[in-house]
Amino acid sequence: MRVLTIIPTYNELESLPKTLERLRAAVPASDVLVVDDNSPDGTGQLADRFAAEDSQVHVLHRKGKEGLGAAYIAGFRWGLDAGYDVLVEMDADGSHQPEQLPQLLEAVEQGADLAMGSRWVPGGKVVNWPLYRQAISRVGSTYARLMLGLNIKDVTGGYRAFRRTTLEKLNLDQVDSVGYGFQVDLAFRVARMGLRIEERPITFVERELGASKMSGNIVVEAMINVTKWGLQARWNTLTRKKASGRS
Ligand code: GDD
Ligand code: MN
Repeated sequence: MRVLTIIPTYNELESLPKTLERLRAAVPASDVLVVDDNSPDGTGQLADRFAAEDSQVHVLHRKGKEGLGAAYIAGFRWGLDAGYDVLVEMDADGSHQPEQLPQLLEAVEQGADLAMGSRWVPGGKVVNWPLYRQAISRVGSTYARLMLGLNIKDVTGGYRAFRRTTLEKLNLDQVDSVGYGFQVDLAFRVARMGLRIEERPITFVERELGASKMSGNIVVEAMINVTKWGLQARWNTLTRKKASGRS
């Protein structure tokens, strides 16, 4: 299996070096693609220096900040074109521990179409998150789970390994959500296609350096979208039942 780990970055000058070093050490077989949105702090140039010294590290430079979802989609396209079998999502800030990637890759090897790192399954943990953040994540995840009928405990999690064919089946052009909503959107699309999703426990470590790019707006957008998608799915089921009842 040829593996590409995609790391989106926006102002991650302090965090990226450590993440790259840990990833290259923990999973030397994985190539890496840093997708930088022209970070003002020079993260893109730092990534270029890594790439110059390591032929397994690549950098995709984008014009400006368009959100984590857009960065991942650009990264997926790049990786599919380059022929990778597995495409991984990983944050630059140390929250996703590279040492736990083998567990996700193993799940894909064993047949999962999407392996998700999960904080909210037995064995999953969060480190340095205040209780209110844990509560928001759990409540948000549970709401999305019920609203969308998903059998996933950590719906917003962003540490994932996609089998190539999973991304090929998704219509990436249609995905336009940002932030947390992007992760829910992708999970919902994969589940609706009837593909196999497996969760593996991870320890999510809150960043020590730099700042989060997620805002209250992104959380609100995600909640509104989840409600919309959930109602839409119910409406579709209802009208389908009515139509088949008449015939
Ligand atoms: N290229 C690019 N463009 N990268 C971005 C952008 C952007 O507009 N916004 C964020 N990123 C990068 C960050 O630099 C980081 O590497 C990663 O995306 C995650 O961003 P954070 O700002 O650290 O997000 P978070 O810690 O709040 O959210 C994480 O956990 C959520 C669940 O709790 C992410 O993994 C989310 O995807 C996840 O939903
Ligand atoms: Mn983070």
